[in-house]
Amino acid sequence: MELATGMRHGPVELRLVRPRDARALQHELLSNRQWLQPWEATVPYGAVSFDMRLSIRRLLQQYRDGAGYPFVMEYEGEIAGQLNVWGVARGSLCSATIGYWVSERFAGKGITPTAVALATDACFTEYALHRMEICIRPENAASLRIVQKLGFRYEGLRRRYIHIDGDWRDHYAFALTREDVPQGVLARWVNGQVPPDAATIPPADRMII
Ligand SMILES: CC(C)(COP(=O)(O)OP(=O)(O)OC[C@H]1O[C@@H](n2cnc3c(N)ncnc32)[C@H](O)[C@@H]1OP(=O)(O)O)[C@@H](O)C(=O)NCCC(=O)NCCS
Repeated sequence: MELATGMRHGPVELRLVRPRDARALQHELLSNRQWLQPWEATVPYGAVSFDMRLSIRRLLQQYRDGAGYPFVMEYEGEIAGQLNVWGVARGSLCSATIGYWVSERFAGKGITPTAVALATDACFTEYALHRMEICIRPENAASLRIVQKLGFRYEGLRRRYIHIDGDWRDHYAFALTREDVPQGVLARWVNGQVPPDAATIPPADRMII
């Protein structure tokens, strides 16, 4: 499926990652170790690779295979981070998961919620997906704000679900389906129509951290 060249809202642009982004992304990853490491996906057997050339090659192969949509988030024309739509399941699921990071100096500018909204809208309207999921560690207050802002619905606690920062970590799962957002995720947020309690975690699932 061909991807539109890019999507934009105000100073935030979301576009497909390119091989020539490798150097800039690698620089951001290496100079933001403390900021990113607690939330970074790892693998149970093996080391994390910072070879962005290889990583982008793999992401673009997954994109060609229809298994993912690998984006870069830009702010006022500068690379701010990555947003990856991964785990695309077609058939009777038509579902995917979003992961993201921005460099510390770009935090707090609303880049990620804007980009998540743009990506989810594109996935629902152009890429024929029906459900978008975001999984977040209970400790990640900044990331939990993204699903609160956009009104992703809380769906449950997944124990030891994803290998992050060297171990299997519990995650809260949030999702939206197409029917939840007939007007679109971005429009719903911008127009102040996000249901306030969608992402609220029930007391039984609130973990002591
Ligand atoms: C989580 C993350 C992607 C949020 O992106 P963002 O573009 O900063 O999103 P927002 O601007 O909406 O800010 C979200 C929250 O981050 C927090 N925040 C803002 N500025 C911050 C800063 N300088 N440092 C730390 N946290 C900050 C605030 O709680 C903010 O919520 P608020 O707008 O209600 O005040 C970003 O913090 C990040 O990349 N963190 C490291 C990687 C990570 O956690 N990835 C997600 C894994 S699920």
